[in-house]
Amino acid sequence: MAQTKTILRALAGETLETPPIWMMRQAGRYLPEYRATRGQAGDFLSLCYNSELAAEVTLQPIRRYGFDASILFADILLLPQALGADLWFVTGEGPRLSTIQSQADFDVLKPASAIHDKLSPIYETVRILRRELPADTTLIGFAGAPWTVATYMIAGRGTPDQGPAHALKDTKPALFDQVMERLIEGTIDYLSMQIEAGAEVVKLFDSWAGSLKGADFDRYALEPVKRIIAALKAKHPDTPIIAFPRGAGERYIGFAEATGADCVALDDGVTAAWAAEHVQKDGCVQGNLASSHMVTGGQSLVEETRRIVDALSKGPHIFNLGHGITPDADPENVQLMIDTVRGT
Ligand code: CP3
Repeated sequence: MAQTKTILRALAGETLETPPIWMMRQAGRYLPEYRATRGQAGDFLSLCYNSELAAEVTLQPIRRYGFDASILFADILLLPQALGADLWFVTGEGPRLSTIQSQADFDVLKPASAIHDKLSPIYETVRILRRELPADTTLIGFAGAPWTVATYMIAGRGTPDQGPAHALKDTKPALFDQVMERLIEGTIDYLSMQIEAGAEVVKLFDSWAGSLKGADFDRYALEPVKRIIAALKAKHPDTPIIAFPRGAGERYIGFAEATGADCVALDDGVTAAWAAEHVQKDGCVQGNLASSHMVTGGQSLVEETRRIVDALSKGPHIFNLGHGITPDADPENVQLMIDTVRGT
């Protein structure tokens, strides 16, 4: 069936005159209406599990800006929580989880098939969104890629160099592989359920892929994503998949082809001109404006936005930031970016 939604057309490989646009973390703390709804929910995790309010914050940036896609409001750390890890958020600091250092720590986790009770409110959010989103807005579901989720589960928090995960991988590889296996299975089940509930596209966030080098990149960033994509495509062949191996650098080359992803998301560590030559030749790319422009705005935002749009204009492209928008961003700069992309 011919697609009419612009995001789905770009993901199918079509070069559009104006790239469709959405933004990572588009529902977030830079928006006063998000802060108000989060206050109503109590805290961030209560918001994630309150289907009505999670749908509401997902819709807020669509109402305000008319983005071409909306991304389900949830978090990549809900899957480890559903597997039995403790999870809480410390205001101003970030996530905290129970850690995995020993076989005993791993053995308390549940099998992948047991995640759906805990995650059923997320599937309900997807169903509400499919009813309430405008007809031309694409709904994107997501999960973390196994390596990135493993870095949080092992360390129990975000870490600047993913040191604890690297240490477990290098000193207890059999235990590390069990963590990765459980996450691969859980991610396949979780994303399948999002698709069955109505997600039209899914995205895998591998925020820490860049800390894997050489053969480790192949084993722990590329292979798991390839396995997840193969399993999802076997069940849902028509659902496009976006992979985001953040920080991959040269390893962006050939990543879509090697994993079966329909699109790779580019961080801001590569230039759009380089990506046009080396990555876009294999299909759709998404990205890659530095999110700092959403804080600073002005002429440099406009120039850099135009540079990216021009550089990627000869192939399929979805405009986005190179990483999530930050809480200190100015909502007016988001509008300026959108107007620049759409040429209005
Ligand atoms: O993009 C969206 O709008 C959809 C929702 C979404 C969130 N997190 C909501 C969120 C998505 C896709 C994510 C992904 C996510 N979560 C990633 C991968 C992408 C990336 O940013 O690298 C990671 C690593 C996480 C884990 C996570 N969640 C961290 C490290 C933090 C704390 C840091 C921070 O930005 O505060 C979160 C919290 C989080 N997830 C917030 C939001 C809107 C802020 C929570 C709040 O309202 O206080």
